[in-house]
Amino acid sequence: MKVLGIMGSPRIGGNSDVLLGQALTGAKETGADVEKIILDRKHIAGCKDCKKCNTTGVCAIKDDMAEIQTKILEAYAIIHSSPVYFWAMTSQMKAYLDRWCVFFDAEWRWQKIYYPKMRGKRIGLITVCGDSNVKTADPIVHSFQSTIEMTKMHWLGTVMASANDIGDIVKNESAIQQAYALGEKAATP
Ligand SMILES: Cc1cc2nc3c(=O)[nH]c(=O)nc-3n(C[C@H](O)[C@H](O)[C@H](O)COP(=O)(O)O)c2cc1C
Repeated sequence: MKVLGIMGSPRIGGNSDVLLGQALTGAKETGADVEKIILDRKHIAGCKDCKKCNTTGVCAIKDDMAEIQTKILEAYAIIHSSPVYFWAMTSQMKAYLDRWCVFFDAEWRWQKIYYPKMRGKRIGLITVCGDSNVKTADPIVHSFQSTIEMTKMHWLGTVMASANDIGDIVKNESAIQQAYALGEKAATP
């Protein structure tokens, strides 16, 4: 069983990274294999809406997303982690999410070839904002949760935390514990 961590911040060792690390530790200590993908180290272009994938199930853009798509298909659960940038997810995370188009047909139904592996896929989310009000990250939650609901995946829930300077989140014991628990949940059938 593999739990995949998708890191959307360009700040390695930053707050989203620390919390995602905690979640993956929780998953590992529950018995899962874990892997973290740092999106900022990958080449992921924005979706071009060319619609070729609607019929072929293959993205026309040749970049690192193909390799990530395979890991998504094989993962038992996926935990995403993104800071808030201007009341939204980072551009790295958005480019990644938009490329999920490859999994769907023109009516936003799962491509038949992907359905068996994507149906019920367990998806979790971690957000970090500089604002003391964690609800600042609500637009990111809305984006992921709506996607999961529309496509009948399994929503594991969110950890929403607040921190500013790099790594400051380690002082937030509650967020650290919640992230660990999210990882445990992701790896528990
Ligand atoms: C370009 C940019 C835009 C940001 N916009 C917001 C924002 O709209 N609201 C907010 O609360 N924090 C905002 N922040 C602060 C980050 O969310 C905060 O510093 C967070 O801890 C960064 O997480 P990281 O360490 O994982 O990169 C912004 C930071 C940057 C660099």
